[in-house]
Amino acid sequence: MTSQRLQGQTAFVTGAASGIGRATAIRLAEEGAAVMVTDIDVEGGKATVAAITGAGGRAEFAEQDVMDEARWAALVEQTVSLFGRLDILVNNAGIGVGGPVTDMTLETWNKLMGINVTGVFLGTKHALPAMRTPRTDGPFAGRSGGSIINISSVAGLAGAATMSGYCATKGAVRLFTKAVAMECAAARDGVRVNSVHPGIIVTPIWDSIAASDVDLIDGSNALTAEQIGLASPVGYPGTPEDVAAGIAFLASEDSRYMTGSELVIDGGWTAH
Ligand SMILES: NC(=O)c1ccc[n+]([C@@H]2O[C@H](COP(=O)([O-])OP(=O)(O)OC[C@H]3O[C@@H](n4cnc5c(N)ncnc54)[C@H](O)[C@@H]3O)[C@@H](O)[C@H]2O)c1
Repeated sequence: MTSQRLQGQTAFVTGAASGIGRATAIRLAEEGAAVMVTDIDVEGGKATVAAITGAGGRAEFAEQDVMDEARWAALVEQTVSLFGRLDILVNNAGIGVGGPVTDMTLETWNKLMGINVTGVFLGTKHALPAMRTPRTDGPFAGRSGGSIINISSVAGLAGAATMSGYCATKGAVRLFTKAVAMECAAARDGVRVNSVHPGIIVTPIWDSIAASDVDLIDGSNALTAEQIGLASPVGYPGTPEDVAAGIAFLASEDSRYMTGSELVIDGGWTAH
C-alpha cells in the first residue's frame, strides 16, 4: 500500500486529464490528498476523477485554461470552499512544439509562453495567498505553508536543436521557481517552491512534438518517446508514474528542507 503522507491535505493539479498530470493526481490521492483536477480537456479530466473516486479517493474536476486569470481566482476559492484548504499546487499543464527557430511563428511562441510560463505564474500568484492562510486544524494547526511544484523539463536545463521555444519556457519556469522560493523563504510563510525536470516520458505530448518535426538526437529521425527514450543512458523512456513519485515526495514533509531545488527525473539524460 502507498504511504499516507498527504492525509488531510488538498492538492490542485493542472493539466491533469493526461500523462504526468493524471498520474500525479492519482498518486497524490493515493497518498491521502483531496485533489482538484483541472484541464481544458473535460472528458479526460473527468476520467482522472473517476479513477480516483473509483479507488476510494477524493477528487473534483473543473475545466480550466491556465492562461485565464479570473478562472484561477475562482478555482482557488472553489478548492478552499470544497476541501477547506490548499496545501499543494502542481503547475503541470504544458504543451510542446518544436521546429527550427527561423520557422517558428510569433503565434506559436506566444502560445508556448502563455501556457508553459504565464500559466505557472498565474497559478503561483493565486495559490500563495491561500497557502499563507494559517491552518485551523491537523498537525500544522496555526501555521501557514504549502508546496508548489512547477513542472519544467530537461529542456529547462540544456538546449536542444529545434526546441528553442520550448526550452525558453522551461528555463523560465526553472528560475521563476527559484525566485518565488526565495520570496517565500524570506516571508517565513512555510511555502516551499521546487521544480521538476522530467526527461523522456511516454505521454501524448510527444504526438504534437513529433508532428512538429523535431530531431532530438543527432543523426536520428526517432520521433516517438519510446524511440527517443532508447537513447537515454538507462536505455528506456520513463513513465508518468516515475515523475508522479518525485512530485509526491516534493509535496510531502519528506522534502521539508527543500526549496528552490530542481528534481531531475530523466534516466541519466542530463548526467553526461
Ligand atoms: N512527456 C515528457 O517527456 C515531458 C518531459 C519533460 C517535461 N514535460 C512536461 O510535463 C508536463 C505534462 O506533460 P505531459 O507529457 O503529461 O503531456 P500531456 O499532453 O499528456 O498532458 C498535458 C495536459 O495539459 C493540458 N493542457 C494543455 N493546454 C492547457 C491549458 N491552456 N490549460 C490547461 N490545461 C492545458 C492538456 O489538455 C493535457 O491534458 C508539461 O508541462 C510538459 O512540458 C513532459
